[in-house]
Amino acid sequence: MSKRIIQKPFPALYPVPVMLITSLDSDGEPNVFTVSWVGTVSSSPPQIAIGVRPHRYSRAAIQQTGEFVINVPDESLLRAVDICGHVSKARADKFALTGLTPVPASQVRAPLVAECPVNIECQVVQTLSLDSHDLFVGKIVALHVDEALLDDTGFIDYSRTQPIVYLGNEYWSLGRRLGTSGFSRREGE
Ligand SMILES: Cc1cc2nc3c(=O)[nH]c(=O)nc-3n(C[C@H](O)[C@H](O)[C@H](O)COP(=O)(O)O)c2cc1C
Repeated sequence: MSKRIIQKPFPALYPVPVMLITSLDSDGEPNVFTVSWVGTVSSSPPQIAIGVRPHRYSRAAIQQTGEFVINVPDESLLRAVDICGHVSKARADKFALTGLTPVPASQVRAPLVAECPVNIECQVVQTLSLDSHDLFVGKIVALHVDEALLDDTGFIDYSRTQPIVYLGNEYWSLGRRLGTSGFSRREGE
């Protein structure tokens, strides 16, 4: 393997998730936009962080209300995901444009996207300015999961999900399951 040092480093992580973030602006108008700079950052309390460019319409709404919802799309929503990632609320109502349906959440004022099988309600607990992006750390205050995805023990059966992942600027689906965490230790037993 011969490696080259990239002179101008970029965040080369791959794959990254693709999520739809909903918020409510100061006029009480719901909005939805696509993020891929999103990740789990702690389990207790459960927290997820998102990176948002300061000039995004959604950024002001999240800053003002201190709330957002992470909606997990599946492959069937790819077109809506792409639209929400290329059109600003400053120009159009993306719910009307995509046919996505905003429905009330349980703990926050930002709506859920009805068509997404998983919705994660978050309250902002920390904001960090990182120059090109603002990092919002959201504490999870409610979690909604489509019953069709749940196994007998009440956990998500991930083989039933069809997540979209992002590689560079391309949308991909996942391939086959490679193993279960801890398989290498069990082999030695
Ligand atoms: C796949 C994909 C991922 C994106 N990820 C982010 C992101 O992590 N953070 C961000 O600020 N914008 C991201 N964007 C761009 C915004 O979704 C886009 O600018 C959107 O129109 C902003 O909507 P708003 O102005 O209504 O808030 C992404 C776009 C796409 C297509």
